[in-house]
Amino acid sequence: MQYDDFASLCKNRRSVRTFEDTPVTKEEILKLLELARHAPSVDNLQPWHFHVVLDQEKRKALMDACCYGNFVEGAGVFMIVTADLRVKKEAKKILWNPKEVEYSCITAMEHIWLGAVAMGLGGSWVSLHHGKPHEILGLPHEEVVIGGMMIGHPKKGDKTAMQERKPLKELYTFHE
Ligand SMILES: Cc1cc2nc3c(=O)[nH]c(=O)nc-3n(C[C@H](O)[C@H](O)[C@H](O)COP(=O)(O)O)c2cc1C
Repeated sequence: MQYDDFASLCKNRRSVRTFEDTPVTKEEILKLLELARHAPSVDNLQPWHFHVVLDQEKRKALMDACCYGNFVEGAGVFMIVTADLRVKKEAKKILWNPKEVEYSCITAMEHIWLGAVAMGLGGSWVSLHHGKPHEILGLPHEEVVIGGMMIGHPKKGDKTAMQERKPLKELYTFHE
């Protein structure tokens, strides 16, 4: 892959919140999770778990636990990504920043998000209120919720504008 191809993937990704009715297949979901599996993680602990919520009642209940859950309704797939904090026991080195177990899951979510775009799909991160997902999905308290992801076939003609970014020169410092 060329840098330009990857740059174009990154630059064209945006949050998609309206979708066609076309379902996302289990094969497509598994392809995305396969990308997530290759994400980097602290001490290679791979703390992530992907709860793909197919049950409609659970999905509805989870939408109520989302900050902007109304968008989720049209999405083909809704998944909750969790970090299993129990993996800390498996660390071979001292975890200087234990929060990195949670951060690792975000790298996996970005693989899924970019992978979805590469497959002609789209979606968005979905913020969740803590607590409820545990009740609804029966999660142990050591599994912390990192966030939700909705994925689907982007609605044709969706006019959502690209969000402005800060100029590059404001974002870095070369400490020379
Ligand atoms: C941690 C995080 C939480 C987010 N939560 C939500 C959310 O709850 N609902 C939503 O519609 N978008 C959510 N987003 C998407 C952002 O609003 C979006 O990425 C941002 O406005 C930039 O737009 P873009 O993704 O189209 O470039 C979230 C993104 C991140 C990274």
